[in-house]
Amino acid sequence: MTTRYSERFQDSASVADYESKEYRAGSYSTCIWDLQRPQVEKIIADLPRSHARPFRLLDFACGTGRVISALENQVDTAEGIDISENMVAVARGKCLRAQLQVGDILSQPELLRNKYDVITAFRFLLNVEPDVRGKILRRLREIIAEPDGRLIINVHGNSHSLRHPAILWRRWRERAQKTGAMLNEMSPRDTKQLLRTNGFEIVRQLGFGVLPPTLYRTPLRGLATAIDAALSGEHVWNDCAIDMLFVCRAI
Ligand SMILES: C[S@@+](CC[C@H](N)C(=O)[O-])C[C@H]1O[C@@H](n2cnc3c(N)ncnc32)[C@H](O)[C@@H]1O
Repeated sequence: MTTRYSERFQDSASVADYESKEYRAGSYSTCIWDLQRPQVEKIIADLPRSHARPFRLLDFACGTGRVISALENQVDTAEGIDISENMVAVARGKCLRAQLQVGDILSQPELLRNKYDVITAFRFLLNVEPDVRGKILRRLREIIAEPDGRLIINVHGNSHSLRHPAILWRRWRERAQKTGAMLNEMSPRDTKQLLRTNGFEIVRQLGFGVLPPTLYRTPLRGLATAIDAALSGEHVWNDCAIDMLFVCRAI
């Protein structure tokens, strides 16, 4: 039986793996976040602010607080929400100011009563079931401040990237090994269409990680890191980046 994505990070072993394996010091995901973080901070710093009301951030599917703990000091109020109590328990240890909640924004709409100037949603869209993607995006669309609110959302598995052959190989192995590895991919075109049909217009697209992650486990790691750093951000080859980041406004 396949585990729904809402259950994937409920148990403490998955949470521990996320922290100690996926985001261990020096992991590929950590290297990509090191490139992404300053760009996300700059995007938020550059957004227009009204002095008449607080500037509000929501980190949807905040998990263990990687993103919200980095951004909480840039805004007047920071809120995080996730469906996993165990993920949020770790986030509570990292955040100093953010208010964190556990719950389901679809069945408990009352959990989010504000309009948000920035909504971040990292590492969620790719792996959640296709039937949930649109529902979540439409709910986020309802609570984004207009006209200047921004959704900053990423897809960390681009099917048009140089990692695609390795994913095909791992999918083939997975048929025999059944490790439960998440090997989903989305194309830039499908992602853009998904965002548009659910009420978001993309105003900027950035890309992170062009070279195959395998290189990070070879003696070429230093070179690969330098090349990926040089190629990250807003470029014509964004549709080839492994991790695609979209800045969107409500249509
Ligand atoms: C891969 S983690 C990403 C966590 C964090 N955003 C980050 O980038 O480090 C995915 C998160 O989505 C959460 N999640 C899955 N389904 C959800 C839902 N329906 N509502 C809220 N959170 C959900 C999981 O509990 C998990 O914490």
